[in-house]
Amino acid sequence: MLGANQRSVRRDVRRRGKLRRYRHRMNLGELWPLFGLEIRTPRLLLRPVQDADLPALVRAALDGIHDPDRMPFGFPWTDASPADLPRNLAMHQWSLRQVSPQSWTIQFAVILDGTVVGAQDLAAHAFTDRKTVDSGSWLTKNAQGQGVGTEMRAALLLFAFDVLGAEWAESSAAAWNTASLRVSYKLGYEPNGVTRVAPRSAQPVDEQRVRLSRKAFNRPTWSITTTGEQAVLAQLGIIGPQNDAGRAPRSR
Ligand SMILES: CC(C)(COP(=O)(O)OP(=O)(O)OC[C@H]1O[C@@H](n2cnc3c(N)ncnc32)[C@H](O)[C@@H]1OP(=O)(O)O)[C@@H](O)C(=O)NCCC(=O)NCCS
Repeated sequence: MLGANQRSVRRDVRRRGKLRRYRHRMNLGELWPLFGLEIRTPRLLLRPVQDADLPALVRAALDGIHDPDRMPFGFPWTDASPADLPRNLAMHQWSLRQVSPQSWTIQFAVILDGTVVGAQDLAAHAFTDRKTVDSGSWLTKNAQGQGVGTEMRAALLLFAFDVLGAEWAESSAAAWNTASLRVSYKLGYEPNGVTRVAPRSAQPVDEQRVRLSRKAFNRPTWSITTTGEQAVLAQLGIIGPQNDAGRAPRSR
């Protein structure tokens, strides 16, 4: 028969053993499942931006994204000086790590032939209730006009509709932004109203809102392959104790 002291010593030893095993197994992808997510298309790899991607992402941005005369973004982040832009971009990335089932934004680094060429955002509020995602994107100028923008948005839509279970995808672009709107309309989005925005002070422009239902999605002929998505579904609160019904994965 063990005394109370011996039992407590054994409990401590067992607890320390468990902690040691747990510390040994833990890697960044387990700690933050979004860092284990990858989406592959015929030409591209999309993965949530990690700190190691920041220098390449900054380089892609500094190489130029758009004509300086017109601002395509709702927030004019590319107007920052080359000295300020890198840290602003990093701070923005870090702000996106406030992830909860109520509100999340995932910014994917877009990698073509091993080089980061831009970013593709996927965002949602109250996703499990609204089943609606929003998106935004940019590519460094050299990578534009070769179908990459269409391929990365199509990949995101396949992921949103078939993996996350979204029913609607929304987006918007300045009414003059033919490339962005063309990508949307090619994939099946429909106009969803116009609003007035002023990303640059005293320079208002029309913003065209668009939206796409899962049914109307003009699916590409190719499919995506994903890694790490189950843990991400749990991190975003899409599966797990709150959503016991769970969801069977669909074919993509
Ligand atoms: C918007 C963006 C991501 C699109 O990516 P992309 O790789 O250039 O787009 P794609 O090559 O896949 O497709 C662009 C389509 O627009 C068309 N297009 C582009 N500029 C055009 C113009 N001035 N007039 C008519 N069509 C135009 C292209 O012909 C192509 O359509 P098609 O495939 O039917 O020929 C990219 O252009 C970009 O980063 N732009 C600057 C940042 C930006 O505007 N971001 C979006 C903010 S809402």
